[in-house]
Amino acid sequence: MTDGPGPASGAESAGRATPGARPGPTSGGESAAAGEAVRARFPALADDALAPLDNAATTHRPRAVLDALVRFYTEANANVHRANHRLGMAATEAYEGARRRVARFLDARPEEVVFTRNATDAVNLVARGWLEPRLAPGDVVCVTALEHHSNLVPWQEVCRRTGARLAVLEVDDEGRLREPVELPAGAKLLAATRVSNALGTIVDTTALVERAQAAGVPVLLDVTQSAGHLPLDEGTRAADFLALSAHKMYGPMGVGVLRGRAERLEEMQPVAFGGEMVESVDQHEARWQAPPWRFEAGTPAVAPAAAFPPALDLLDELGVPAVRAHEKALLARLLEGLAATAGVEVLGPRDLEERSGVVSFVVPGGDPHVAGTVLDLAGVAVRAGWHCAEPLLRRMGRGPTIRASVAVYSTADDVDRLLEALPDAVASCRDGAPNH
Ligand SMILES: Cc1ncc(COP(=O)(O)O)c(C=O)c1O
Repeated sequence: MTDGPGPASGAESAGRATPGARPGPTSGGESAAAGEAVRARFPALADDALAPLDNAATTHRPRAVLDALVRFYTEANANVHRANHRLGMAATEAYEGARRRVARFLDARPEEVVFTRNATDAVNLVARGWLEPRLAPGDVVCVTALEHHSNLVPWQEVCRRTGARLAVLEVDDEGRLREPVELPAGAKLLAATRVSNALGTIVDTTALVERAQAAGVPVLLDVTQSAGHLPLDEGTRAADFLALSAHKMYGPMGVGVLRGRAERLEEMQPVAFGGEMVESVDQHEARWQAPPWRFEAGTPAVAPAAAFPPALDLLDELGVPAVRAHEKALLARLLEGLAATAGVEVLGPRDLEERSGVVSFVVPGGDPHVAGTVLDLAGVAVRAGWHCAEPLLRRMGRGPTIRASVAVYSTADDVDRLLEALPDAVASCRDGAPNH
C-alpha cells in the first residue's frame, strides 16, 4: 500500500469497494504522503499488532513529538518565565515558541493562544471566566444536540449556577443540524462542535458562526475533532473562542488550547489564581498579567506544549487538505464495507461531504462492548460505548455504539482488517459473548 497517488489526487474518488471485491490495499485512496508513507514515523505502530482505528479518542504520536519531549527534559528542563539561567531561558523559549507555532497553525496571534490542560479545560475556562459573569436568570445559552459532554456539561453547570436556560439546536435523523437553524432570542453564547465525535457529522460552522455573529451572539467552537482533519474554515477563523486538545492531533497528552479573540480574552476573568498569572502582588491584592498568561496560573504543562510543534509541522508538511482527502477515501471504503456487512447499521449523515473520518455503527440486538472485545482479539482497535455523547445517541434512538475513526497514518489495510473481523464480531455480540 505504498505508492498511492500524490497527496490530494485520486484520494477523493478511490476506495469505492464493492461487496466481496474490495480494492487492493494500494487503491484505497491513500496519498503518497499520508497512510503507509507516514506510518513509519509513529513508533507505537511499528509492530502492526493492532489496526489503530480508535483515533477519535486519542491519536498516536510521531517520533518527532516523542523526541521533543525527551529533548525538553534533557536539554531545557527548567520552569518557565522565571529563571534567568540558560535552562530557564531555553524552557521559556520552548514554551513561548510553541505558543507562536500554535498561533500560526490556527491563523491567530500568539497572545490569543491560552495553553490549558485539554479541550475540556478550555471550555470550562470560557464558561466560568467569560460567560458566567455575563449571565442573569432567564438568559439563554445555546448548544447543539451534537456536543461531546465536554462542550455540554460546563454550560449546564453555568446555567445551574446563574438561573440561565440551556437551549439546544436539534438534529435530524441523520444527525445533521436541523435547518433552518433558529437561534433562540436572548442567547448570550452559542457553543457548537465543528465535528461530532460520536457521529462524524461535519457542521457547517461558517454558516452557523455567520448567523450567530450577525445576531450579536458570540460563538465558541469545539474543534477538537476537526483540527488536523479538516482545513480551517471561515467560521473557525471567525469564532470568538476555539477549544482543542493536542493529544487528538498527534501532540502530547496534558496540553490543550483555548484560542480566544483578543477582545474576548481581555473581557475574560481568570478562574485559577496563584503564581505566574500576576504582575504584582501586595498583601491584600494582586494585579494580573495580560492575556494569555493571566489564564495560566502555576507551572504550566511545559514539556507537552514544547513537544506539540512537531505534530503541527507534520500536519503542515502533509497539508491538512491532503489529510482530509486521505481520510475521506478511507471513510468511503469503510462505509461501503459496512453497508455490505449483514447486521450492521451505520449512524450519521449519508453524504460523504458531511462526514469526518469518524464512523459509529450498531448491531441491533448486540452488545457493542462484546463486539469491541472480539475486534480487539482480531487485532483491531475501535471504541465501544457512549463516546461522551449520551444525549446525542439517545436522540438518535440508540445506545452505545461501535466507533471506528481514521487518522493520517490509517491505511486501507486497517479498514479491511476491521471489515474482515466484523462478521464474527456481529455474531458474537448478538450471542452476548465472544465466539472463541
Ligand atoms: C468533540 C470533542 N470535544 C471535546 C473533547 C474533550 O477532549 P479532552 O478529553 O481532551 O478534553 C473530545 C474528546 O473526545 C471530543 O471528541
